[in-house]
Amino acid sequence: MNEIKIFSPATIANLSCGFDVLGVCLDNIGDEMVVRKSSQRGVRITRIEGADLPLETERNVSGVAALALLEEVDTDFGFEIEIYKKIKAGSGIGSSAASSAGAVFGINALLGHPFSAKELVKFAMQGEKLASGSAHADNVAPALLGGFTLVRSYDPLDIIKIESPSEIYATVIHPQIELKTSDARSVLKQHITLKSAITQWGNVGGLVAGLYTHDYELIGRSLHDEIVEPIRSVLIPGFDRIKKTAKDQGALGSGISGSGPSIFALSRGKETADKVAHAMCAVYDEINLPYEIHVSKINDDGIKILSTQ
Ligand code: HSE
Repeated sequence: MNEIKIFSPATIANLSCGFDVLGVCLDNIGDEMVVRKSSQRGVRITRIEGADLPLETERNVSGVAALALLEEVDTDFGFEIEIYKKIKAGSGIGSSAASSAGAVFGINALLGHPFSAKELVKFAMQGEKLASGSAHADNVAPALLGGFTLVRSYDPLDIIKIESPSEIYATVIHPQIELKTSDARSVLKQHITLKSAITQWGNVGGLVAGLYTHDYELIGRSLHDEIVEPIRSVLIPGFDRIKKTAKDQGALGSGISGSGPSIFALSRGKETADKVAHAMCAVYDEINLPYEIHVSKINDDGIKILSTQ
C-alpha cells in the first residue's frame, strides 16, 4: 500500500462530568485526509484545503503527531499528508484531534500496523499539545478507537473503550464564534473543593455504569458538570437556554462540547435528537446568531478508510 485516504471524525470531549478523561466519536462530521509514502524521508504537509493552517511540519498538529510516531520506527522513506478540513478550528468538536489522529492512523496503516489503535493515542496527543498547550487525550482517543472512551490514567497512559448502547444520538450546535482551547483552559481554576470532586467522580462512575448497562436515565442524570461548565459557559452565547431547550425536548442531558463553543446533547433515538436540533436552532435564530447544527449517531469504529492504492 502506498496511499491511504481516510475519514477522520469529529469528537465530543469531556461529556460534562469527565473533563480531560471522557470522549465520544461522531459519525457524519469529519475531515478527509490522504497519507502517502514518499521517497523523501520525514513528513511533508503538501496540501490543506478548508482551513488556513500552517504547512510547515513542526507547526502543524498532524505533522507533529506524525513525527512523534516516526521517532519510534526506522524507515528509509517518508510521508506526504493532504488535509481536507471540514471541522472548523476552535469549534469544540475535536478539529486538531481529527488531524493528529488521522496522520498517525494513516502512517501506521502504510507501515503495516506496527502500533495498535491504543498505542497511537500517545503520538496523536503531541498534536493536541501543539494546538492547546496540553496533551489531552479525550478527543484523539475516541477518534482512534471509536465509541465512548475513558482515559483511566495519563501516567501511565491507560485508555478504556466503553461499551455503549446503539440507540444514543448526539446533537451538536456550533455557534459561529471561535473559542481557542488554550483560552478556554486558561480561565479554569487549578484547585477544586473535595465536595465538587465527590460530585464529579460520582457522575463519571454513573455515566460509565449507565453506558455499560444501557440505563438511559442514569446516563442522563450523570451528564452533569459543576466544575468546568459554570466557568466556561459564560463564554457561550445562549448556553443556559440551549441546555434547557434540549432537556425540554427529551434529551438525556446536555453540556459544553469539549472546550466549546459547541454545545452537545445526547438523546435516545434519532427522532428525539432531531427534535432537540430543531429547538436548539430556534434559540439561535431568535437571537440572530449564525450556527451549524449536526445530528449524528455514535461512530463505533473511529477513523474510516475510504480508499487505498
Ligand atoms: N478536555 C479538553 C478541554 C478538550 O476541555 O480543554 C478540548 O477539546
